[in-house]
Amino acid sequence: MNLWLTRLKDPVPAGLKSPAELAGFELSHALPDTQVILREQPALNEGYRIEPLPGGFRITGGHTGLLYGAWRLIMDRLCGEASAAVIDSAPKYAMRMIDCWDNPDGTVERGYAGRSLFFRSGKLSWDPGRIRELGRLLASVGLNVLCVNNVNVHYPAQLLLEDDLPSLAALAEAFRPFGIRLMLSVDFSQPMRSGIPTADPLDPAVREWWKSAAARVWSVVPDLAGFLVKADSEGAPGPFAYGRTHADGANMLAEALRPFGGTVVWRCFVYNCRQDWRDYKTDRARAAYDHFMPSDGDFHDNVILQIKNGPQDFQVREPVHPLFGGLMKTNQMLEVQIAQEYTGQQKHVCYLMPMFKQILDFKTYMPGHEDATVADIISTRTLKNANGGIAAVANTGNDENWTGHDLAAANLFGFGRLAFDTTLDSESIAREWAELTFAGSTKTAIDAIVDILMRSWSAYEKYTSPLGIGWMVNPNHHYGPNVEGYEFDRWGTYHRANWRGIGVDRTTKGTGYTMQYREPNASMYEHVETCPEELLLFFHFIPYDYRLKTGKTLIQHIYDTHFEGAQDAADFLDTWKKLDGQISDKEAYARVLKRLEIQADSAIEWRDRINTYFYRHCGTEDEHGRKIYE
Ligand code: GCU
Repeated sequence: MNLWLTRLKDPVPAGLKSPAELAGFELSHALPDTQVILREQPALNEGYRIEPLPGGFRITGGHTGLLYGAWRLIMDRLCGEASAAVIDSAPKYAMRMIDCWDNPDGTVERGYAGRSLFFRSGKLSWDPGRIRELGRLLASVGLNVLCVNNVNVHYPAQLLLEDDLPSLAALAEAFRPFGIRLMLSVDFSQPMRSGIPTADPLDPAVREWWKSAAARVWSVVPDLAGFLVKADSEGAPGPFAYGRTHADGANMLAEALRPFGGTVVWRCFVYNCRQDWRDYKTDRARAAYDHFMPSDGDFHDNVILQIKNGPQDFQVREPVHPLFGGLMKTNQMLEVQIAQEYTGQQKHVCYLMPMFKQILDFKTYMPGHEDATVADIISTRTLKNANGGIAAVANTGNDENWTGHDLAAANLFGFGRLAFDTTLDSESIAREWAELTFAGSTKTAIDAIVDILMRSWSAYEKYTSPLGIGWMVNPNHHYGPNVEGYEFDRWGTYHRANWRGIGVDRTTKGTGYTMQYREPNASMYEHVETCPEELLLFFHFIPYDYRLKTGKTLIQHIYDTHFEGAQDAADFLDTWKKLDGQISDKEAYARVLKRLEIQADSAIEWRDRINTYFYRHCGTEDEHGRKIYE
């Protein structure tokens, strides 16, 4: 299966050596009747220009730019768009990355589409044909870095820096023609596996160990993009154990990688995961800012801090992470998750581009750059950065259709398209994806798919936890409703619902989190009247009889959105049933039907559990007299 490249029947042949060669192959294969002249201009790097010529086109581009230009032309033509104008394009971000959370045993952490495409039985091991197809898919939307192993580095992933090097080199070679460089997640304590008694970043033996590890790995993969590090997070080792800062840790690695042009991508997902629910002051949302702001400006220029989109953990709705706009002197990249860990696990349809667009468009009011959005801050242009980027936790696996739910592929496609060009709008991306993927289906079917995708995030939000409060999922696997699943746990994920109301007071009277934002955002979130209502419960404790701007009470809003959300899921299923016979790929049709049935049932479960939970807490009847279980 070829996801959105369904019209291209031939697999990528083995033996193509460079993006330019590949561009030639793809063009002659996809557009055999169109004459396309390829002209390489190295200075354009990843950028390209497409010019219409009498009877054909000319693409001028850098080494990878040629390939990106070829894909732009192919996809526009396959979607039937006339390209009469000259197109100039270049990505805004140097690093457009897919983070695979694959483990050596072949499992994928938070993977919902089968097993690993890269590992089997403790070793790197892959199907070359599938890797070529994956490379093709990623290159077609302009993604250029792939981190091959889980940020939680489980043994024997450490061997990737030791004796699994020939395999790593071969995998890097397989991705090279697609303009994709590999990255590795590394274990901060790895020197200790070689008999060094410490992993202290200031210890000379540790520093030497990392230098020689870098030399060893870059000698076989000279274009390795760098190391990705999860340190002092959820039990992972890190510099705190030695009384060092994260800048000490990241810079030590940065020095080891500098001679090879490597980058350290250092994650900011650092918080106390042994919290007590009785403690109302400690706030997980505050943690990353509290840890990293004091080190702003201390990181070397080949370090990028990778910051999750929100301060908690890929919930269906969170405010934008306050480190964006907080940090002024540090390279930053945004981390999102297209693996739908908290958004239906690729059993529910949840098209995430509308969410990503809101995040990218958020204005942080960083001093001196008051108009800069998150999209600007993570680009190479706003700060003094030479480095910036965007990463998504991958949603692919070895399932035949790659992403489990066929409609989840829209998130991979969309992420790539947005990462290349953040000005695109979510709906055109959805339409482009649907037209490419379901080529040969009726126009009614394409319109219906776009409609389902565009309504899906909001539907999911409606039937799950209300107004930004998050969680309410089953612990550990995170699928399905469990309102108090995380309420008395150690993870800092509380909603604080009682008989009076619900929500976490993150104002100055509560945890003080609101003050991590720049003005006017800080004041906006601080006051109930100005706080965007979709985030009301994230920032405030609100009584059930509080009137929202719609005039509804909070409790009535909770009931209404849950009935609506479950109805939306039922509508998606009905719509799909009506498309029987109108979708060109019958197997895909049947697979999606099954998943929409699962979603519709699950949405009812969410609706009833949440409505009943709140009804039992406050005893307020639904104004419309619908069934709420006692
Ligand atoms: C979430 C997720 C973990 C993951 C972690 C991370 O907590 O549930 O599986 O390891 O995020 O991003 O590091």
